[in-house]
Amino acid sequence: MTDTPPTDTPPTGTPQTNTPPTNTPPTGTPLIEVAGLTKSFGDNDVLRGVDFTVPAGSVTVILGPSGSGKTTILRSLNALDVPDAGTVRIGEVSIDFAGAYTKADIARYRRQSAMVFQSHNLFPHKTVLENVIEGPVIVQKRDRKEAIAEADELLASVGLAAKRDQYPQQLSGGQQQRVGIVRALALHPKAIFFDEPTSALDPELVGDVLAVLKKLAAQGWTMVVVTHEIRFAQQVADQVLFVDGGVVLERGTADEVIGNPQQERTRQFLRRLLEPI
Ligand SMILES: Nc1ncnc2c1ncn2[C@@H]1O[C@H](COP(=O)(O)OP(=O)(O)O)[C@@H](O)[C@H]1O
Ligand SMILES: [Mg+2]
Repeated sequence: MTDTPPTDTPPTGTPQTNTPPTNTPPTGTPLIEVAGLTKSFGDNDVLRGVDFTVPAGSVTVILGPSGSGKTTILRSLNALDVPDAGTVRIGEVSIDFAGAYTKADIARYRRQSAMVFQSHNLFPHKTVLENVIEGPVIVQKRDRKEAIAEADELLASVGLAAKRDQYPQQLSGGQQQRVGIVRALALHPKAIFFDEPTSALDPELVGDVLAVLKKLAAQGWTMVVVTHEIRFAQQVADQVLFVDGGVVLERGTADEVIGNPQQERTRQFLRRLLEPI
C-alpha cells in the first residue's frame, strides 16, 4: 500500500504541554498497551489479535514479512486505520475499538502519537521550516515565535539548521526524512511510530537517519519502529516483535528474538533477511 499523501489538513490537535523527553527509565506501567487488535479489509483478516506493551522511554522494533500487518498495526496505533476490535491505551487515553467512541475520542487518541512514514510526506510548496511549524502553529495553535525557535533547535539537532529556508525538493532523501522526523517531534507526541523510515533511501543515506533514531532513543523518546535494519534492532531495541500473519508470533529482547528465535517462522524470516542469496 502507499503512504498517505501530504494534504493540507494534517491530523487534528490542540496545544499540549511541552514535555521534552527525559532519560527517565521505563516505569512499571507501560506507556502503550495493545490488546486483541483485529482488522479485516474485506475478507482479508489482516490483524488477528495483536497484543503487546511498550514501556515509556523504550524502543520497540517490529520485524516481519511483507504483508504480515506491520503497517496496519502502526496505522491503528495512530488511528489512521480504525481496527474492528481490540483496545489500545496510549498514556491516559484508551479506545475500545469494538465499543462506542466519538470523533473527539479518536482525535484525542491520535494526538498521543506521531507517525514517520517510509517517504517523508513533506508539503512540496512549503519550506523546511514551514513544514515543521505547520502542525504546532496551524493545528495546535501554539505561539509562532516559540514554534519557530523550537523548530530551529530541532533542525539543528539533526544537522539541518542550514536547510530551514529551502524547499523539500532541494534536499536529499535522507535530509527530507530527517525533516519528517523533526516534524513529528515538533508535535510533542508521547510516542513516535516509524514505518520503515529508511527503506526508501539510497543505501549511503540510511546511516544518517538511523543515527537520528539512535539519538532520539538515547534522549528517552518512546518509539515503535518497523524496520529490517537488523543491526539497528540489535543495538537500539529494548524489545523486538516478530509479526507474522497478523499476530505477534514472537516477542523478546533483540538477543532473544534475533539471536535465538524460538519459532521456525522467525528463523526462516531471519535467514532470508540475513542471507538473501
Ligand atoms: N487500505 C487497505 N485496503 C485493503 N487491503 C489493505 C489495506 N491496507 C493493507 N491492506 C492489506 O493488509 C495486508 C497487510 O498489509 P500491511 O499492514 O501493509 O503489511 P506490512 O506492512 O507488514 O507489509 C496486506 O495483505 C495488504 O494488502
Ligand atoms: Mg508496511
